[in-house]
Amino acid sequence: MTAILTEGLTKNFGDLCAVEGLDLSVDKEIFGLLGPNGSGKTTTVLMLTTLLAQTKGSASICGHDTRLDPEKVRDCISYVPQDMAVDTNLTGRENMLIFAWLYGIPNPKDKVDELLAVMELSDRADDLAKTYSGGMRRRLELAEALVHEPEVIFLDEPTIGLDVAARRNIWTHIRKMTRKGMTIFMTTHYMDEADQYCDRVGIISRGKIAALGTPSTLKAHLMKDVITVTIEGDYAPVQLDGSMFVGQSDDSISFTVENGREALPLLADALKQSGNRVKAMSLREPSLDDVFLQSVGKQEEPKGFEEFKFHMMLHRRH
Ligand SMILES: Nc1ncnc2c1ncn2[C@@H]1O[C@H](COP(=O)(O)OP(=O)(O)OP(=O)(O)O)[C@@H](O)[C@H]1O
Ligand SMILES: [Mg+2]
Repeated sequence: MTAILTEGLTKNFGDLCAVEGLDLSVDKEIFGLLGPNGSGKTTTVLMLTTLLAQTKGSASICGHDTRLDPEKVRDCISYVPQDMAVDTNLTGRENMLIFAWLYGIPNPKDKVDELLAVMELSDRADDLAKTYSGGMRRRLELAEALVHEPEVIFLDEPTIGLDVAARRNIWTHIRKMTRKGMTIFMTTHYMDEADQYCDRVGIISRGKIAALGTPSTLKAHLMKDVITVTIEGDYAPVQLDGSMFVGQSDDSISFTVENGREALPLLADALKQSGNRVKAMSLREPSLDDVFLQSVGKQEEPKGFEEFKFHMMLHRRH
């Protein structure tokens, strides 16, 4: 039975099509859904976790339809949302015990002890969660998600706002979960993480999948060297045979070229002739960032998005 299967999954909010015709099949792997702000990642996760009804199409989790059998779906999943999910006025252990009780776990104390140990929280288990660092809170949320031994775990930006060491630590724990045969469906903005830890990634742009595959196949599709150019001021577009513009982020612009060493001086000349003031140029192999940029291009965040998101966050925090 495929862990996650969607067919033409679509969600409209009024005139806005947040997710459009999503066809996905995910099973016993770490799957990363990547995409710019407002591209439809959380909306997708909410539909898959039965928290939001789709407008069209279907989704099933472990063979259960999210619309027809939501209870059965909830029995086999866990969801760690994008915003805070622990009660900071309770201790770590109390947070866990509530979860274990809600799920009717036999021997809840033993289960809670075991998971606190897995997430390396045993020594802080009796401190209030408000005294935890961001990384510790995230680990507590992961521990909660594991209480009823779900087959599929949804993680919305599990490492957002954490420092490098805390991110690596969270990933070590997520990897451990997949070794037990779980399916992890996650969203992230960190391309380096997706590249390193996801078995497959889907890049979503304006509600549609723009690229899907293992990080290495997606990078291999670019098949070329990448030249990154840092310029001063606005970029004046250049045309050079054999080079292709990938995308622009801040003041750096990327091009794919067949042969980096040959193209570098030619591109430098072409940039200069078009009136660009080049500060630096570098040559490297393609990264998932390049795949991302090429798939989504440089796009504006949908209007009104920040305000909407801000109010949602305030609402959830109260
Ligand atoms: N309840 C809602 N009502 C109206 N519009 C919504 C609602 N939820 C989401 N949207 C809109 O749907 C689009 C997709 O939002 P979504 O939260 O899925 O994006 P995201 O990819 O998770 O973004 P981020 O990376 O910022 O978390 C956005 O334009 C958003 O404003
Ligand atoms: Mg989101």
